[in-house]
Amino acid sequence: MSATAETSRVPAGSALGSLTRPARTAARWAVRHGLPAVYLSRSARRGDPVGRLMRDRALREQPYGVYEEVRARGPLSASSLGWVTTSHAVAQEVLRSDRFGVGWDRSSAPKVIRWALEFGDDPASAGVAEPPSMLVVDPPDHTRFRRLVSRAFTPRATTAFEPAIRRTADSLLDALERRTGSVDLIEAYAAQLPVLVIAELLGVPTQRREDFLRWGAAAAATLDPGLPLRRYLAAERALRAMHGFLDEHFAQLRRDPGEDLVSSLVTLPPEEALTDRELHAVVLLLLGAGFETTVNLLGNAVVLLDRHRDQWAGLRADPAGWDGAVEEVLRLDSPVQLTGRTARSDIGIGGRTVRAGSRVTVLLGAANRDPEVFPDPARFDVTRANAREHLAFSGGIHYCVGAGLARLEGVVGLRALSERFPDLRVAGPPERRDLQTLRGFERLPVALR
Ligand code: HEM
Repeated sequence: MSATAETSRVPAGSALGSLTRPARTAARWAVRHGLPAVYLSRSARRGDPVGRLMRDRALREQPYGVYEEVRARGPLSASSLGWVTTSHAVAQEVLRSDRFGVGWDRSSAPKVIRWALEFGDDPASAGVAEPPSMLVVDPPDHTRFRRLVSRAFTPRATTAFEPAIRRTADSLLDALERRTGSVDLIEAYAAQLPVLVIAELLGVPTQRREDFLRWGAAAAATLDPGLPLRRYLAAERALRAMHGFLDEHFAQLRRDPGEDLVSSLVTLPPEEALTDRELHAVVLLLLGAGFETTVNLLGNAVVLLDRHRDQWAGLRADPAGWDGAVEEVLRLDSPVQLTGRTARSDIGIGGRTVRAGSRVTVLLGAANRDPEVFPDPARFDVTRANAREHLAFSGGIHYCVGAGLARLEGVVGLRALSERFPDLRVAGPPERRDLQTLRGFERLPVALR
């Protein structure tokens, strides 16, 4: 059974649902974050590397040393979170194999956990890592959702979007021209470009972009296990606001559909129509994934290139190199650091036997530094011949739908920035986001000239 099959017996929208909301929130937080936090902290104290990665804030700054400790234990090793891999070959096999899935069999969980998940279920605050989000459902539901969205992301559709990306980048750079002194490049450029692009592509109002950015920043934390209650409540508030916005937006498009992807999703013929919950899950994921990840690619790129001025200068001289540079940034400082899969049956892999129902944590950021595939893996080299073999966009059936769009935004956005401000420099210590799954900067002070 996949997690999708379970729903609460007390509908969240009912009168009883409203009365029980605080208790439901508490149950949801306890089972998704409170208990994992206790467990991970205990493992971290015992020296377990995955526990440390999840609980030690200092490692968010620099997780790569711990990845090497994990690598030294072998391609697939045991950890507090089940199995963990840093190996490119094993990661690729896990991601591509249909013997692994993303769904999770709740029936094997202790009764109290099953009860808390069921009682705490609330579609109005569901995050992108909760079913029926495409990210965490298996076929056939996954196939159905993926088919509906992928036509908006074909190579042809993506290329057709290039002029719009260029125009958006140029208008943001025009606004930057008027700024003096130190500028936060994340706030003024790296966050703005992706949110404007995905809003235009999905047909959601770009004027709401500051709301999306605020909501997205709070909600992104729900990808990490073990959130403190206060942060979890902020994330829930943001998710409720996003779902509320989507309700209004869907109603408006049903009255007056446009040519965009979301209009096509709300007007599907009855035999294909998505339930309200599925529709929310699909669009929330597209919107969130559309900007919460690409901002990190742009920010990480600027910091790496600032630390390697010769390569920045090389790209200025030969802009054809930007494609390779974007791949190398994705490889070396991956915006999504980890994902996971569950074995559907007993599987021999990486020299070990993974039992049915066991979880494998795939450290994408470590697989992208596997010396078996990438010689001298910690070195930043925008001309690295095989950088594109990275797994920053995952692999298999969940391979990032927006990979082509993200690459294009990276190439167009970084090239336009370097042409407008060739002397741009990091002008103060960049601040990392307090996140584990996503890796990027919260603040990036730069001098433009
Ligand atoms: C640099 C930017 C990006 C990175 C690094 C990235 C990374 C990823 C990764 C690693 C996954 C798969 C996770 C897993 O296997 O469990 C994924 C899935 C996904 N991404 Fe991206 N992404 C980026 C940009 C985008 C953009 C611009 C969109 C636009 C809509 C997008 C939409 C999605 C969607 C819908 C999925 C779910 C696919 C599925 O489950 O079948 N991503 N992304």
